[in-house]
Amino acid sequence: MSPHLLSVDSLSRDSVDHLLRVAARMEPIASRRQVTRVLEGAVLGNLFFEASTRTRVSFNAAFCRLGGSVCDTTGFTFSSMAKGESLYDTSRVMSGYCDAIVMRHPEQGSVAEFAAATHVPVINGGDGPGEHPSQALLDLYTIDKEFTRLGKSLAGAHILLTGDLKYGRTVHSLIKLLSLYDPMRLTLVAPPGLEMPSHLIDLVASRGHRVELRDSLASDFSDLDVVYTTRIQKERFTEEMSENFAGLSQDFTVDRTFLDARCSDTTIVMHPLPRDSRPGANDLNVDLNGDPRLAIFRQTDNGIPVRMAIFATLLRVDDQIERDLRPVRWFVPERVGVDDAHF
Ligand code: NCD
Repeated sequence: MSPHLLSVDSLSRDSVDHLLRVAARMEPIASRRQVTRVLEGAVLGNLFFEASTRTRVSFNAAFCRLGGSVCDTTGFTFSSMAKGESLYDTSRVMSGYCDAIVMRHPEQGSVAEFAAATHVPVINGGDGPGEHPSQALLDLYTIDKEFTRLGKSLAGAHILLTGDLKYGRTVHSLIKLLSLYDPMRLTLVAPPGLEMPSHLIDLVASRGHRVELRDSLASDFSDLDVVYTTRIQKERFTEEMSENFAGLSQDFTVDRTFLDARCSDTTIVMHPLPRDSRPGANDLNVDLNGDPRLAIFRQTDNGIPVRMAIFATLLRVDDQIERDLRPVRWFVPERVGVDDAHF
């Protein structure tokens, strides 16, 4: 595996399988049954120049759960980039302070530019409409766990990706990651103007997957295994697009009616979150809350073991986890409802 995690392009099927195996070994730590200090003394620089809750906090928590410490900076306003500092200079400076760096930035390619100036492992936490590889890994980990529970297999699965497939970086990374596996059926449903970039469709088709493009959810999806919905990334729209985009219509909403009428009891619903719950957004509907098919919070829970696995692998302590395990000493309340990951 490359010293950085910037794009799914650097991952082979073997390196992905390795990361998922390491993530499974992290589950007792993620569920607070055991602690490890395998990264004791290491410092993470967590640099977020775009809005984030789960990616920033879960990278932070994952590093802490391995025994490391975290230095955070959030937004341009409070960083020297507001004074005109280049990505190169910031990268060189941070390399003197940190043992690993996670960065989110609004421009595609910016995290790679930052990584080129440092010897310290850099993880792309989202570069504009580019990629979000750690999200794709936790999405794949979730699909794998849900399929195991349901007795399904990834080979031949039918997966629907819907919403903003043009600017949604999570689906860009996810479709590349899925394409490393045995042939499956991928249905892509996007509003006009927000379709998946054609080079990504060509890539997955060239790897033997069946790709179907549709502009509506109004069809039979009774053989669907996963519906992966995404938020409309309005913050990436040009002025002209913002003026012309009337909002996502009701027809694109994944809700209980859609799931009950068109899908099956074993179709799982995923979303990278956040979902836009404001009236008229027509994002993933809250009426599915509490439905066991809704996997979104199991998905966010899975972010911890997967991000721990990424750090452990990049910092080469992935073979030392068991050696360092101890039981937790604090009180951990019982939790495991339908929404929680079953670690
Ligand atoms: C996504 C992102 O930032 O790309 N969120 C996340 O990291 N889980 C999706 C989004 O913002 O819509």
